[in-house]
Amino acid sequence: MFDSLNALPSDAILRLIAEHANDARSNTVDLGVGVYRTEDGETPVLKSVKAAERQVLETQTTKTYLGSGGDPEFNALIQKLTFGDEVAAERVMTLQAPGGSGALRVAAGVISRARENATVWHSDPTWANHVPLLAGAGLTLKPYPYYDAEARTIRFEQMLETLSQAPEGDIVLLHGCCHNPTGMDLSREQWQAVAELLASRKLLPFVDLAYQGFAEGIEEDAYGIRLLAGMVPEMVVATSCSKNFALYRDRVGSLSIVTSNAKTAGIVRSQAHNLVRTMYSMPPDHGAAVVRTILGDAEQRANWVNEVKEMRERLQAMRTGLVAKLRDKAPDHDFSHIERANGMFCFVGISEEQVEQLKKDCGVYMVGSSRINVAGITPGNVDYLAESIASVL
Ligand SMILES: Cc1ncc(COP(=O)(O)O)c(C=O)c1O
Repeated sequence: MFDSLNALPSDAILRLIAEHANDARSNTVDLGVGVYRTEDGETPVLKSVKAAERQVLETQTTKTYLGSGGDPEFNALIQKLTFGDEVAAERVMTLQAPGGSGALRVAAGVISRARENATVWHSDPTWANHVPLLAGAGLTLKPYPYYDAEARTIRFEQMLETLSQAPEGDIVLLHGCCHNPTGMDLSREQWQAVAELLASRKLLPFVDLAYQGFAEGIEEDAYGIRLLAGMVPEMVVATSCSKNFALYRDRVGSLSIVTSNAKTAGIVRSQAHNLVRTMYSMPPDHGAAVVRTILGDAEQRANWVNEVKEMRERLQAMRTGLVAKLRDKAPDHDFSHIERANGMFCFVGISEEQVEQLKKDCGVYMVGSSRINVAGITPGNVDYLAESIASVL
């Protein structure tokens, strides 16, 4: 039976990782892979996570099943982290999911059950997995303009124009903060205009929050979600603890569906749990138990907030550092957009040929679109990186 299958090409980023690993040069720079790294190029377990893991190991008395929605205490804490006090808990169905990806997949399933052939509008460009993941779950995907590669800004007027033509009931996928891949986030005024448009046109906001804490701060980065929650009757939010808790492989995320009343929230919960039961039965516990332990204790939470701040500030320092070096090495070119971006990613703004040349001549690895992971920059390689980029311009 399996002879009938055709092999698929490997993922572009995984290919890039393999190419970098096989590059024997001593001064290579890897800006491809999507994980946070320290100045030493490590992706360590956070200290707050280590402490919580010890506590979980010592105090856990059972590993019996928890159910399709995961840990209710985790759900209550993550709901509060996402929405603050902006929405009454009884109107929200929150469930623990296997990472942000799992949350997106369950969201797509519930949306499909509520509305057959639903259309989701996504930013152009968006995270490479959004379209295959949501389309694979049966949703129709359509792009709205987002990034102007020439001007290196958000095409905000065109975005609003396109969304204002979307039929009532369509879904609009937004990045809560640290837009992946552009790093360009909506300003507060722009969030306001988007929220007003979605509310008046009766479009359903679907917010993906995968980098809470990496732009301005834990609370600040929930600004758009909380604004929307105060203005629309229903919305969907998928969150991920992969980056801000550095729990990547432990698979921790959450899905929240805000409904107009407690009765509907109960119905949505029953549907979501039923869907989970038919896909993976229930989410893994360990990482969520760690998050619950951290968020549920004031001191551990403060330690974690500090660690997120350290990661955020390192990313910002590397952006500023790279732009300063580029100003020096390539004075005729403007790279200031790199400094205006948030989170781990942004486009350098060079051609695919220049990206290839960087790889071949300098051992500098980035995705063909010139998207870089800023966490791959260190005080030790920023000079070389700027020189390399300048050399291909
Ligand atoms: C925008 C966005 N959403 C969701 C995810 C999913 O993260 P995970 O499934 O690892 O929690 C990512 C990961 O890179 C992302 O960049």
